[in-house]
Amino acid sequence: MTDITSQTEAALAAIAAAGSLDALEAERLETLGKKGWVSLALKTLGGMSPEERTAAAPAIQSARAAIAEALDAKKAALEAAALEEQLARETIDLTLPAVAAPKGSVHPVSQVMDELAEIFADLGFAVATGPEIEDDWHNFTALNMDETHPARAMHDTFYFPDKTNEGRDVLLRTHTSPVQIRAMLDQGAPIRIIAPGRVYRSDSDATHTPMFHQVEGLVIDRDIHLGHLKWTLETFFKAFFEREDITLRLRPSYFPFTEPSVEVDVGYSTEGGRRVVGGHGDAPGHAWMELGGSGMVNARVLEFAGLDSKEWQGFAFGLGIDRIAMLKYGMNDLRAFFDGDPRWLQHYGFSPFDQPTLSAGVGARA
Ligand code: PHE
Repeated sequence: MTDITSQTEAALAAIAAAGSLDALEAERLETLGKKGWVSLALKTLGGMSPEERTAAAPAIQSARAAIAEALDAKKAALEAAALEEQLARETIDLTLPAVAAPKGSVHPVSQVMDELAEIFADLGFAVATGPEIEDDWHNFTALNMDETHPARAMHDTFYFPDKTNEGRDVLLRTHTSPVQIRAMLDQGAPIRIIAPGRVYRSDSDATHTPMFHQVEGLVIDRDIHLGHLKWTLETFFKAFFEREDITLRLRPSYFPFTEPSVEVDVGYSTEGGRRVVGGHGDAPGHAWMELGGSGMVNARVLEFAGLDSKEWQGFAFGLGIDRIAMLKYGMNDLRAFFDGDPRWLQHYGFSPFDQPTLSAGVGARA
């Protein structure tokens, strides 16, 4: 009896002194564990006579209750202390300025894509996307360039060795025009989208890189004509270059997927060796520069995309994003765009905080 009392007191003292959850667990095993002395003492009750049991049981059971209660209380206290300690250790001072953080910058191409989306959103255009790994049906056939069409050869296409399940050739898209087909098949008409993205051609010099960026535009409705195209592009370029004296010239051209087709030129002058858009290309000291192709969507393309060409018509355009970025921000070598040189990015990049908005200006420099 006194044995149990003193053993219990010793156990309670050890529990109170336990400095960690591990130490507490060791103490639990020694008392209430399968081979702990309290458990063993409880087992001896079974072999006792009823009288002995009545005498011995209360002491053992109250020892077990006292120890179990002490273990629970200590465990809760230790866990609370551990949490407190962790909370204190993991504090972050959110008021600290991030001076030591590396300074990233937004690439001019990303910046210009954001500017494009912002300006065209204001004109009611949604942004559409399509895969960079395309099949030749979307990239060529549905755009009125069948297998034997000479324009296919002009595109310097990168082909994959694979074929699609439908037996189509797989390639890196050579222009953003396949997104026209995908958008029309997906959404039907009327439609008003732009599709900015990467395109690929096997071509490389100071003004050509094997990967470059285009933005496609597509408007399909019931009474669309070339005048709408010219107004849309003029309105876009005025907002993009942030000047009113933008003059466009539509020059007759040929694309298999538009009829009629026009190339879009903008008037510019040269100031200090740098091309500056603005003014009439035929004015003294001015010239025309090509910005992209466009035209009225060919009726055959509408039919390929599942639209009735008697009911629907529209225009499409494709502009080189890198070209207009170079013009706006005064870079002269396209290859530097894709070198990833931090000095170039530091110089020409944009602050991530400098989001283009129509109200604050789509071209504000950081
Ligand atoms: N896809 C053409 C190209 O890459 C450009 C274009 C787009 C022309 C839409 C007309 C209409 O050259």
